[in-house]
Amino acid sequence: MSLVSLEKVFAYLAEHEERHIAQLCDWLRIPSISSESEHKSDVIAAARFIADELDGLGLQVEVIDTSGHPLVYAEGAQQPGRRTLLFYGHYDVQPVDPLELWISPPFEPAIRDAKIFARGACDDKGQLYCHVKALEAYVRQGIELPVNVKFIIEGEEESGGRAVYDYTERHTDRLACDAVVISDTALYNEQVPGICYSLRGLAYMEIRVFGPAMDLHSGGYGGVVQNPANALAAIIAKLKDADGRCLVPGFYDDVLELDAAERAAFASLNYTEEVLRKETGAPAGFGEKGYTILERMWARPTCDVNGIVSGYGGEGAKTIIPAQAVAKVSMRLVPNQDPDKIAAAFIRYVESICPPGVRCEAVNLHNAEPVLVPRHSPLLQAGLRALEQGFGAQPVFIREGGSIPIVGTFQDCLKAPVLLLGYGLPTDNAHSPNETFHLRNFRGGMRTSAILLREAAG
Ligand code: BES
Ligand code: MN
Ligand code: MN
Repeated sequence: MSLVSLEKVFAYLAEHEERHIAQLCDWLRIPSISSESEHKSDVIAAARFIADELDGLGLQVEVIDTSGHPLVYAEGAQQPGRRTLLFYGHYDVQPVDPLELWISPPFEPAIRDAKIFARGACDDKGQLYCHVKALEAYVRQGIELPVNVKFIIEGEEESGGRAVYDYTERHTDRLACDAVVISDTALYNEQVPGICYSLRGLAYMEIRVFGPAMDLHSGGYGGVVQNPANALAAIIAKLKDADGRCLVPGFYDDVLELDAAERAAFASLNYTEEVLRKETGAPAGFGEKGYTILERMWARPTCDVNGIVSGYGGEGAKTIIPAQAVAKVSMRLVPNQDPDKIAAAFIRYVESICPPGVRCEAVNLHNAEPVLVPRHSPLLQAGLRALEQGFGAQPVFIREGGSIPIVGTFQDCLKAPVLLLGYGLPTDNAHSPNETFHLRNFRGGMRTSAILLREAAG
């Protein structure tokens, strides 16, 4: 593979950039919200969109029906003696509420300040599309691919679906590869690209508190029955201490502590409380004593209420004792915590602290394994070289606080190393109103993906 052809690839990407942006916007217009059943046909349309595009590049493509949303599998001609890369991504997106906070509608992509604004722009359609367009550049220029490629693209990542796990477990031969490449994380910041080597895992729980058979008059029965909303508040108050340390017994037993080199590397990234305040709008930082912000964000587990629903929240006053109260709680986990074990400990703990006069239950809605990949593998080195050339800046090693649930299963079933090559930014508003993808990062991502196809060839 000569440098000349890479120049041709870059020239192609530059020449066709307007069209690539327009096509990404077409995909972003499809509201593929996997958790909302009213969007089922949109989810299918988004799967077809990417399937058709890969088909147009000469790959063999299958849209696979599942009990949930479809999977898209595609493969190019598999040449013996070449390494095989498996690209994973997701075409589904998060819900868009609160809609009134969007400056432009979430499914009407708009370009402002050199960013694409749309739900899914960064997470994950825009990032995944970089690989597709890099591939297109090779194919359309008639440049032989230095590696074999496969794609597995799912539509349930954001809603905890099982389809891609079942498929991976049942089709390890089909997905066999030398490396898995995933662009669904972030650069370190606008100036500094990063290779991610660890993701946090997840145990997602729901706490349900049941009181009277129906909402009661808070005057008529107040003081003589337990209030489920107060009881839930009491339970929640016992989940963490004042510094944010989780109080579930055994929670920290299996936590892998950072080594000195990692702590030094994190410290050299200079992530200050001021940056945190600027990125989040929070009035101050907060968290476990003895750890820096990046350590807490990337390598310490959490226990956070994601939502509380109980009683009356409408205009003015309504005097009731609610019949029930529900809280959603996420525990972000780190290597080597086991989500099943943590979920079981959580359930036991919640049952043990249930106040008198109500019935409490806790259930585990879904899990993700924490991930740690070796930093010094040839694959990560290839990723570093690709990022450096693609973005024109020296990349750093980072971890991520978020989760990509399938990664652990890829590691177990495919026995292949995983490269987490993110092109988003922590400030791209993933899962929030006004999600963005910077055009600069779309461009850098497409170039990086193109270089990776060469660098990963070995
Ligand atoms: N792309 C994210 C994962 C991510 C988040 C990476 C933040 C880097 C930083 C992914 O789409 C996601 O949102 N994952 C969910 C998984 C959950 C629904 C099981 C998450 O982390 O909440
Ligand atoms: Mn994602
Ligand atoms: Mn997401």
